[in-house]
Amino acid sequence: MGGKIMRIPAACCGLLALALFSTQSAGQQPLFFGDPLPGISAQDFERFRIGLEDFLEVEDPEEGLGPVFNGRSCAECHSIPAIGGGGSITEIRAGRRNPDGSFDPLPGGSLFQLFSIPPHNCQESPPPEANVIATRKAIPLFGAGLVEAIPDETLSGLADPDDRDGDGVSGRVHWLLDVGTQTTRAGRFGWKAQQATLLTFGAEAYLEEMGITNELFPLENAPNGDAERLRFCDPTRALEDVPDLSTGLRGIDNFEAFLRFLAPPPRGEITDTARQGEQVFARTGCDACHVPVLFTGASAHPVFDRRLVPLYSDLLLHDIGTGDGIPQGDALGEEIRTPALWGLRVRRGLLHDGSAATITDAILRHGNEAAFSREQFLALSKEEAEVLLAFLQSL
Ligand code: HEC
Ligand code: HEC
Repeated sequence: MGGKIMRIPAACCGLLALALFSTQSAGQQPLFFGDPLPGISAQDFERFRIGLEDFLEVEDPEEGLGPVFNGRSCAECHSIPAIGGGGSITEIRAGRRNPDGSFDPLPGGSLFQLFSIPPHNCQESPPPEANVIATRKAIPLFGAGLVEAIPDETLSGLADPDDRDGDGVSGRVHWLLDVGTQTTRAGRFGWKAQQATLLTFGAEAYLEEMGITNELFPLENAPNGDAERLRFCDPTRALEDVPDLSTGLRGIDNFEAFLRFLAPPPRGEITDTARQGEQVFARTGCDACHVPVLFTGASAHPVFDRRLVPLYSDLLLHDIGTGDGIPQGDALGEEIRTPALWGLRVRRGLLHDGSAATITDAILRHGNEAAFSREQFLALSKEEAEVLLAFLQSL
């Protein structure tokens, strides 16, 4: 990684170290948002800490930022309510839907980089041909390492693409070729489940969000696909994410380590009402997609070995009528991956575009595959709806 190293304030790491030891003694529950996974070794904690430093590092053009970008550091968009969380800004995807229904992402790809480095003559904007413009919110990253460790077979076991059981819910695995491992994998990260591993997601984000080329994504983004403009706008031609001389690690390795060891959100208080609400959640059919618990596979690494992952998601693609019209990989424009509901109590601006202000608004937007569940929700008594919301607010 290039140049300037962001210093983590001593107070931050003191707190982290405290969290490390206090959570170790308290068992599996992390105490705070942004903690490392309880029970990791001192060596893994060091990888987490170095990763956090890179995640916070604010990049300059001399270090490879740009020519086009959406943010200068990962943390800029992933910091609510703690580093590694979500964010309030949305980014733009756009393209053209043709009369025959096919989709053209237009030159430069469907993601638009809204900023450019000085002299600021390279930023992208949707061209006049674009007739689909969508926005997407950043996804909180807490517990990402546990999600990565859930076996592909678990996801294919949950999938029912042709709705054979006739319940109206037909989740699909997003199978894809993972760039990092060159193997076919079950996607699980991103609103379209467009990536399967943290290394590849982080590497793609480094290029797409910050304009930093790396070994997995070595080609700079040309503004609106215009190679001529790229030549004028891009002062740094060489590969930008090179291994650090002292650690031998690339920036993308450090992001992976930070995300892998980032603990899941600490659970809110589980009152009796919240417990009753969980039963309503199941009765209302929410758990057909928001599957309460999945498990990691067998792993030589104790913190990932057959662990419970209470994420409230099946990580599959569904059409609930909220799709953004942007196909991505094999995911259709209508499809969105079920978001995990853990940590819901600290999220504001729900659904992929942040357009639902409250949990009730988000539920009422569910249709198509979730139409039955929405009806069940509407048929709840006032008291039942209240305990359901109390449960959701405890997540
Ligand atoms: C400009 C804002 C922005 C910046 C900067 C940014 N992200 Fe994101 N991040 C997003 C958005 C938006 C999404 C959802 C994208 C989607 O699915 O289309 C996301 C999603 C993710 C996910 C998927 C999480 C999940 O559980 O599905 C990971 C992992 C991630 N980002 C890592 C990173 C890393 C690592 C960096 C720094 C290299 C980074 N992000 C920089 C906005 C940002
Ligand atoms: C058929 C699958 C399915 C069912 C059933 C379902 N959901 Fe969802 N849920 C989704 C998908 C997919 C999204 C994401 C939609 C989007 O972002 O456009 C979502 C989004 C949400 C969100 C917003 C989360 C966020 O972080 O933005 C909440 C809250 C939620 N669902 C709660 C519920 C509740 C409560 C029920 C039962 C009444 C339910 N869901 C039933 C698939 C489902």
